[in-house]
Amino acid sequence: MKTILVKINAQKPQGLKIRKAAAIIRHGGTVAFPTETVYGLGANALDAKAVRGIFRAKGRPFDDPLIVHISREHQIYELVKSVDAKAKALMEKFWPGPLTLVLEKSANVPSVTTAGLNSVAVRMPRSRIALALISESGCPIAAPSANLFGKPSPTSAQHVKEDLFGRIGAIIDGGRAHIGVESTVLDLTLKIPMLLRPGKVSLEELEAIIGKVKVHPLVKSIAKKSHSKALARAPGMKYRHYAPRAEVIVIEGANSWKTIRKMLSESRGKKIGVITTRKKNDYGKMGAAVKYLKGDYASIAKNLFRTFREFDMLPSVQIILVEGISGGAKGLGLAVENRLKKAASKVINAR
Ligand code: TXA
Ligand code: MG
Repeated sequence: MKTILVKINAQKPQGLKIRKAAAIIRHGGTVAFPTETVYGLGANALDAKAVRGIFRAKGRPFDDPLIVHISREHQIYELVKSVDAKAKALMEKFWPGPLTLVLEKSANVPSVTTAGLNSVAVRMPRSRIALALISESGCPIAAPSANLFGKPSPTSAQHVKEDLFGRIGAIIDGGRAHIGVESTVLDLTLKIPMLLRPGKVSLEELEAIIGKVKVHPLVKSIAKKSHSKALARAPGMKYRHYAPRAEVIVIEGANSWKTIRKMLSESRGKKIGVITTRKKNDYGKMGAAVKYLKGDYASIAKNLFRTFREFDMLPSVQIILVEGISGGAKGLGLAVENRLKKAASKVINAR
């Protein structure tokens, strides 16, 4: 397939270029586009055939449902059975923005979009390019992250190109995604709403608006093959995600540096990568490939997937140790912890 590349100004999207990309969506094709969280791979959410094109391009299993993106609030009413008071309050507070709401779906949404579930995930992104593309297309746009299945979500057009060039209709380059981790996913079909995926809109912010929110038990756990469908609220939750090619091991606790030095000294010529928030370290001198990230959660979130992908460019690195990013965190910290755990094979506690 021929993939066209379109560079668009994120602040002032050029109408002509948006129209060109929207025409592809209208004709049943696929277009990768930037959002404020990560890049998405979009198609007409109400066209089953177009949506199948997304799954095919990504190599995504058909049991993992997609998020439907809208540009105007009224569009939600054609996608869901009803919008209750909690949903309304959250939409008012956080839309457009990085919050996805799961509600009972209407008959308009084809079952391939929701992977056969009775619910549908809906979000209104904040990115101007995304909003312009949706309105110009004249339909809601189903869009998972624009990576090959199993790879870290793309935070730049270059990442999308690496994964999907030749497999999709177009890639819009609108610069870097500034949040860097995917949207918060909240299930509102339950009596007590449940956080399925933490993101920039935090648990605390949600509870401030709608009261008690449960956290799905898989949010803080390492992804394991044994996690059954029954446990996962959405089938997609059972998959290992966001992972670079190398094995990821998270080292938590005040003595993490000691553990890492020990592992490096015992590595016997095996190349080890380290992601650290410790600026002064001697891991490089000990032979490691070191990537330093600023220690605040916003910087970590913004750069984590990019850093994973940089390690994928270093084929000799078989193990990546992640230091200085610990669990139990609030706010965006919960999202960072979740993404690390979904990428990791184990967590070592070095207290
Ligand atoms: O920030 C984002 O949300 C990005 C950008 C492109 O908007 N999109 C994204 O999509 O991350 P994706 O497909 O990579 O992740 C969608 C998540 C999956 O974990 C999926 O299982 C969950 O949302 N999901 C979708 N529909 C659902 C439903 N009906 N019930 C429960 N979970 C659902
Ligand atoms: Mg994804």
